[in-house]
Amino acid sequence: MRVGILTGGGDCPGLNPAIRGIVYRSMDFGDEIIGFEEGWKGLIEGRTRKLSLTEVDEIVSQGGTILFTSRTNPFIIENGPGKIKENLDKFAIDAIIAIGGDDTLGVALKLHQLGVKVVGIPKTMDNDLSGTDFTFGFYTSVEIAVDALNRLKDTAKSHRRIIVLEVMGREAGWVSLYTGIAGGADWVLVPEEKPDFEVMCTHLMKDFERKGYALVVTSEGVDISLEEKGEVDQFGHTLLQKRGVGEFIADIIFKKTGISTRCAVIGHIQRGGPPTVFDRMLATRTGVKAVEMIHDNEFGKMAALVGSQIAEVPLEEATRTLKLVDEEWLDFLKIFLK
Ligand code: F6P
Repeated sequence: MRVGILTGGGDCPGLNPAIRGIVYRSMDFGDEIIGFEEGWKGLIEGRTRKLSLTEVDEIVSQGGTILFTSRTNPFIIENGPGKIKENLDKFAIDAIIAIGGDDTLGVALKLHQLGVKVVGIPKTMDNDLSGTDFTFGFYTSVEIAVDALNRLKDTAKSHRRIIVLEVMGREAGWVSLYTGIAGGADWVLVPEEKPDFEVMCTHLMKDFERKGYALVVTSEGVDISLEEKGEVDQFGHTLLQKRGVGEFIADIIFKKTGISTRCAVIGHIQRGGPPTVFDRMLATRTGVKAVEMIHDNEFGKMAALVGSQIAEVPLEEATRTLKLVDEEWLDFLKIFLK
């Protein structure tokens, strides 16, 4: 078979190991793997490159994606799906493996409904995709954020300050929650819960009195009631980093407590660098499984982590609703906010 593959949406560590897994497993079937560059954009524009052992041999430890990526939505581009179908014929592609988050997999589902043979591989550092226990990229980005928090602790202690670390994660608080708990933050803010700044500041003052510093982790998506929407991508998402949630919260803390407060925004640093072993293994396993799914005619599904197995999960289930931090997790978090 000739299998087309692409990576779409924000990059995250694990994409390259997934590509490598696909290429290695496809060799067992005698398949040809054709990479489309920059996600759906490459499929619309017909930009391809052949992938063999030579291209993927050394990429298991590399962050980013050798296929490049973009947030292109073919369904808002004139005749986007039509162009995709033309190129699938032109390059004699039998099936597509789309590696992405809810946006990329949402497009994959729509194309599947139009008769395209698609299999998905879930990825996102936000970990907000339903139908899978974890997505690769998440643990690596949390490791990086925890490392940043450890470093901030040293400087916060030395200067007797409060430091706020703003992390990514969009509307889901997973990155903030895991970073805060694993990194020992004194307060953690997630988008799923409206912030109570009075309660937070009273708590921080207590912590500050006890140990002479305090650390806060906030998600970029926390509700600070800003009216403006700002820059929006092709899937309608606002660039949340531009809202300046971390700075806004640091400002409130200083005004309410009088304690010297600083903010650090980790931003895209969280998305780069070598994937952790967990993410390399998860990505590799999903890559291998996606090829097997194509040969088993399991289209319209993604290769996802369910328990300890890589299972075939319908794309409909994956893209119906975002997986957000629920009440149970919020209660768990509160155990550590004392
Ligand atoms: O979805 C992944 C993500 O890293 C979000 O956490 C973040 O809000 C967004 O991408 C940033 O997008 P961009 O790379 O376009 O700045």
